[in-house]
Amino acid sequence: MKGTLIFKMFGVILAGWILMESSCLLSLILERTSIRNFDKNRKVPEKILENILLAGIRAPSAGNIQPRTFIVVNDETVKERLYELCGNQPFMNDAPVWIVICVDLHRHLKAAKLTGVEYDFTGVLPYTFGVLDAALSLENMVIAAEAFGLGSVIIGSVIEHAEKAREILKLSKHCLALSIVCIGYPKAKPERVEKWDYGVIVCENRYKDVSAENVSTYWKKRISSTLRRSGEEASEEAVEKLSKERTYGEAYSNHYTERFIKTANRKLMEFITKQGFLKDV
Ligand SMILES: Cc1cc2nc3c(=O)[nH]c(=O)nc-3n(C[C@H](O)[C@H](O)[C@H](O)COP(=O)(O)O)c2cc1C
Repeated sequence: MKGTLIFKMFGVILAGWILMESSCLLSLILERTSIRNFDKNRKVPEKILENILLAGIRAPSAGNIQPRTFIVVNDETVKERLYELCGNQPFMNDAPVWIVICVDLHRHLKAAKLTGVEYDFTGVLPYTFGVLDAALSLENMVIAAEAFGLGSVIIGSVIEHAEKAREILKLSKHCLALSIVCIGYPKAKPERVEKWDYGVIVCENRYKDVSAENVSTYWKKRISSTLRRSGEEASEEAVEKLSKERTYGEAYSNHYTERFIKTANRKLMEFITKQGFLKDV
C-alpha cells in the first residue's frame, strides 16, 4: 500500500517534470528569432558545439540515408572567402561558430561502391529528400543552440554562389553547400519577427487560399514589428501610412528582382546538374 503510494507520487513528479521540460522546449521554439548581434568576445565551449552538431546528426532522414554533411569553419582564410561570398554581412564576423550545411549524396554513393554496388540514381527525388534532410538537421541545430542560451542566424547566400562555395570548401561531386548557420551568444534578444496568422498557414482537409484581408493584416503586423525592433513607435497611423507606401508585393519584388532571379536560377540549375544531382535515368 505504502509502496503503491510512493510509486504514484513518483509518477506525478515525473509527469510534472516532463511537462515542464516540454513546455520549456516549446517556448524556446516559439520565442526564437534570428540573432544578428553576437557577443564576439564570448566563445562557444567545444562540448556545447559538439552537442549542437549531434542534434543535427540525430534529425530524421528519408530512408535514414542522411545525405548531409556539416562543415565547421575555423580557418580565417576560409571564413574571409565565405564572408565575401555571402555579401559581407557584418554580424557574421562576430559569431564564433560557423557551420556550413551541405546536401551530400557522395557519402551514400561511395558507401555503396565500397560495398560492391555502383550506381548514381541522383535525380530530382533523391535531391529533394536530401535538401529536406539537410534542412531538418539545420533546424535541429538552431533549436539546440537556443537550448544552450545561444542565438543563430542562417545565411543562405552560399547557394547563390554554389560553384565558388564548392571551390572554397573543396566539396566533392554530389555535394552542395546550402546554407551557413552562424551561432554565438546574443548581446541582446530582439523582439521576435511576426509570421502569417495561424488561420492562414494552417488549413483543414483542403487548401485555403489567402485573401486580400489576410495580406493586409499580416503586412501591418510585420511593419509594426519592424518598427518596434528598430526602436521606433508603431502607432496605428504610422503603420497605416507605411503599409500604403510600400505594399507587400512591392517589398518582395524589390527583394527578388526579375533579372537577379533569372540569372541566379540558371546558374544554380546548371551547377546542381554539373555536381551530378539532377541526373535522370
Ligand atoms: C534559407 C535561409 C536563408 C537566410 N539567409 C539570410 C541571410 O543571408 N542573411 C540574414 O541576415 N538572414 C538570413 N536568413 C534569416 C531570415 O532572414 C529570417 O529567418 C527571417 O527574417 C525570419 O526571421 P526569424 O528567423 O527571426 O523568424 C535566412 C533564413 C533562411 C531560412
